[in-house]
Amino acid sequence: MGDKRRIIAGNWKMYKTAKEAVFLVQDLEDQLDDLAQDDRGYDGVEVIVCPPSTDLKSVYTVLWQDKPAIKLGAQNMFWEDEGAYTGEVSPLMLKDLECDYVILGHSERRMYFGETDETVNKKVKAALRHDITPIMCCGESLEQREAGKTDSFIESQILGGTEGLEAGDMKSFIVAYEPIWAIGTGKTALPEDANDVIRHIRAVLASRFGTDAAQDIPILYGGSVKAGNIADFMAESDINGALVGGASLEAESFAGIVKNARK
Ligand code: PGA
Repeated sequence: MGDKRRIIAGNWKMYKTAKEAVFLVQDLEDQLDDLAQDDRGYDGVEVIVCPPSTDLKSVYTVLWQDKPAIKLGAQNMFWEDEGAYTGEVSPLMLKDLECDYVILGHSERRMYFGETDETVNKKVKAALRHDITPIMCCGESLEQREAGKTDSFIESQILGGTEGLEAGDMKSFIVAYEPIWAIGTGKTALPEDANDVIRHIRAVLASRFGTDAAQDIPILYGGSVKAGNIADFMAESDINGALVGGASLEAESFAGIVKNARK
């Protein structure tokens, strides 16, 4: 890869009330203020925050007023535009709040809320239909890793999640590789091991969409990323950035990751 895209996305999970979310995003703006800013982000790093859905409106209002280079994403969404689906949030509702990204198929959603590759695929298609960039997650469990099944499992998740899509859809598509055993545990994958799996993901995408399309798809690593380890991941050939949980909940630590993800 030549000049690769660099993306840092914060997944706030089920943390922060709407008021706390406003403080956090304002604090983040301040922390990033000394970096050169343009449409693409901060000094070449695209920055996305994904608050809980009840915070989207208040964070949107801050971003709309202050116009920082921070982009907004959601953590989940349903695949229908509207209807009798109690408790769900639709792509139209996200679009209305200038939510340009949505995390889909996070391992916590697969584990606790019964998401499957099939439902992830429906959501991915709905997101693309509405010009929302999916951040589609995949990742193996410790058991699968120890049984030597990482590559085959990841391949099935990638192929299942992208079923029925075309090469053109890949222009607005992000993958996050998050080994389940590294999420929230303080245990990170070795950067070279993460890079190997990410290269495999790229090869799987190339087999379906062609090498050119696959080359340009940003693939992030996720799992206990911090300001102190992001540079090692960014130094790898195929890693375009990170999906950050815990360390995105404080402006200083998240801004530290953004700063250390620069070229
Ligand atoms: P973590 O979470 O950074 O707290 O490990 C990552 C994620 O689940 O997206």
